[in-house]
Amino acid sequence: MPDLMDQLAGELTAARDRTLLLTGHDEPELLRQHSPLMSPLVWDLAHIGQQEDLWLLRGGDARCTGLLPPDVESLYNAFVHPRAVRDKLPLLPPVEARAFCAEVRGRVLDRMERFEAGQSPDGMAPFDVAMVVSHEQQHDETMLQTLQLRTGPALLGPGTPLPPGRPELAGTTVLVPGGPFTLGVDGTDEPFSLDNERPAHTVDVPSFRIGRVPVTNAEVAAFVDDEGYDQPRWWSARGWQHRCDAELSRPQFWHPGGTRTRFGIVEELPADEPVQHVTAFEAEAFAAWTAQHRPGARLPTEVEWEKAAAWDPAAGRRRRFPWGATDPTPELANLGGHALRPAPVGAYPAGASAYGVEQLMGDVWEWTSSPFRPWPGFTPMLYADYSAPFFGDDYRVLRGGSWAVGASIVRPSFRNWDHPIRRQVFSGIRLAFDA
Ligand SMILES: [Fe+2]
Repeated sequence: MPDLMDQLAGELTAARDRTLLLTGHDEPELLRQHSPLMSPLVWDLAHIGQQEDLWLLRGGDARCTGLLPPDVESLYNAFVHPRAVRDKLPLLPPVEARAFCAEVRGRVLDRMERFEAGQSPDGMAPFDVAMVVSHEQQHDETMLQTLQLRTGPALLGPGTPLPPGRPELAGTTVLVPGGPFTLGVDGTDEPFSLDNERPAHTVDVPSFRIGRVPVTNAEVAAFVDDEGYDQPRWWSARGWQHRCDAELSRPQFWHPGGTRTRFGIVEELPADEPVQHVTAFEAEAFAAWTAQHRPGARLPTEVEWEKAAAWDPAAGRRRRFPWGATDPTPELANLGGHALRPAPVGAYPAGASAYGVEQLMGDVWEWTSSPFRPWPGFTPMLYADYSAPFFGDDYRVLRGGSWAVGASIVRPSFRNWDHPIRRQVFSGIRLAFDA
């Protein structure tokens, strides 16, 4: 147990380093509402501290008063205040938000130390600490979305170097033979898995083919050049309605002439990089257009995606990660947020799954055709509103994690969800085909 608490303390610190890096800007920058879809960065900052205070210092009991007065704490309730109006709230100024987060963190680390020393019988459960790490890392990714939507001179630089790709893999597929596999995980094999990933259960999946790598910018540029955004035949009825309402004509942040804006820098669109910033409707339209010459092209279901990522047919069991049991490293996947972009397709041969599917973890979130629903036997965790309020047909599941996801919080069973019209997320496409 001490080793585990040490590890979790390290993960809390790593998440906080990232948070402080992403909020290390001047006050007007932090208070600004960069988009109605996002919060001012200073809201995310204090909300991270407020949630840590609630889950780790008060055991999730909101009736206990935390370090903030109740009227101030309520400003950081995501269910009460929509993102678009958060800049109108009397938020804590950045200096106070940082001090509040530091105070909470100091108390948490102190309590973890006492837990290790056996002096805190009511100490926090390791799962709850891991949940708070995941929450902070998820907000770090959200803040990167805000910074991508922000206009003005670049704040973040170009990002860290990435390995070279194997562009010849674009458009290739692998077969995943039919048969049962174990979908989802249990607390015994993945103690920090969140409620919607559980429980493990057997599901039979017919044979299918799946893209060996995600769909590239060059492939989607061909769809744009073929006037794919102007032909309703490639779009679902809802998708076409949205394409017209939102006047979509190419992926977000692309410009005519083959350039894009990335964190304030205008650059040539890299042909071999996985496409990002597309809605589920654009992903489906691209698949329908592709099906003209590659019959049956579609998005995978999330169950197919998870089988391709996690199942080891020779061993007859799941792998912890697509490549095996090793924790993610920079040689295996593009995670952690420092690259500020996806890696070119084929950059991680060592990260392939048992079926030979690459870049499943990191790079881009991959849209699936599945609505967000609970697995049979779902039980809410301590943070009961994490998943349950979002189950139903309104949200679509994305899998795999983007380059912006913290390396310690993602797994093949991890489920993300969003409205199919959203594309400020680092969302991309992987195709599947009936076999
Ligand atoms: Fe949150």
